[in-house]
Amino acid sequence: MIITIDGPAAAGKGTLAAALADKYKLAYFDTGMVYRAVGVEMIENSRDVSDEAAAADLARKLTFQKMMKLSEHPEFRGPLGGKNASVVSSYPSVRAALLKMQRDFAQSPVFKDGSPARGVVYDGRDTGTVVCPSADIKLFVTASPEVRAERRFKEFREKGIDISYENVLADIKSRDERDSQRASAPLKPAPDAVIIDTSALFANDVMEKVCRIIEAKIKKSLEK
Ligand code: C5P
Repeated sequence: MIITIDGPAAAGKGTLAAALADKYKLAYFDTGMVYRAVGVEMIENSRDVSDEAAAADLARKLTFQKMMKLSEHPEFRGPLGGKNASVVSSYPSVRAALLKMQRDFAQSPVFKDGSPARGVVYDGRDTGTVVCPSADIKLFVTASPEVRAERRFKEFREKGIDISYENVLADIKSRDERDSQRASAPLKPAPDAVIIDTSALFANDVMEKVCRIIEAKIKKSLEK
C-alpha cells in the first residue's frame, strides 16, 4: 500500500504520516529530508544558497545514508535548514536529481532498522502528483498560515530555538509562496487527493478521519 500526504509546512503531515505508518506497519519517507539534506550541505560547504549549480551537484551525489548523516546537523530541523531547503527545492535541476531516490523507495521500502516493509507513507509537497502518482491513497493536509505558524513556533520553543511568532509566520508565508509558485512540481493537491483542513482539529481527530477513508478504500478494493 502506498499513501501520499502532501501539503504546506506545519500542516500536521508528519504527525499523521508517522501514526499511519505505525498503525498499518508501513515504512515512512519524509521527503522534505532530501531537500533539507542538500540545504544543510550547502551550509557545510560554505556555498551560497542562490548557487543552483552547486546545489544540483550536491543533489546528484546525495545517497540515503548521506541524508541520514546530514540529518544530525544542528540546523537540519532549524529555521535556516528549513529556509535553505525551501530555496534549493525551487531549482528544477535539484528536484530532477532527487526524484529517482524518492521513487525507488516505493520499490523496496524499508523500516528504520533496514527490515523490509510492505508499503510506504510518503510525506511532502509533490508526492501524490509527481513522486508517486499511482499511490493507493492520496491526502492533501492543510491549515491556515496562522495555525501552522503557532504550531511551528511551539516546536521551536520546545527545542530552545529563539525566534518570534511573527518571524515564524513570515517564514511560513514565504515558503508557501515559493512552494506554490515554482515552475517545477508546485504545491497543489492531486486531482484525486482527499483534502483535509486540520486548522480546528486535534491530531487524533485527523487520524480517525483518515483511518475511516483508508478502511473504506480497502473495503472497496476487496469487493472488486
Ligand atoms: O516538509 P519540510 O518542511 O521538511 O520540507 C522542507 C522544504 O522542502 C519545504 O519548504 C519545501 O519547499 C521542500 N519540499 C518540496 N517537496 C517535497 C518536500 C519538501 O519541495 N516533496
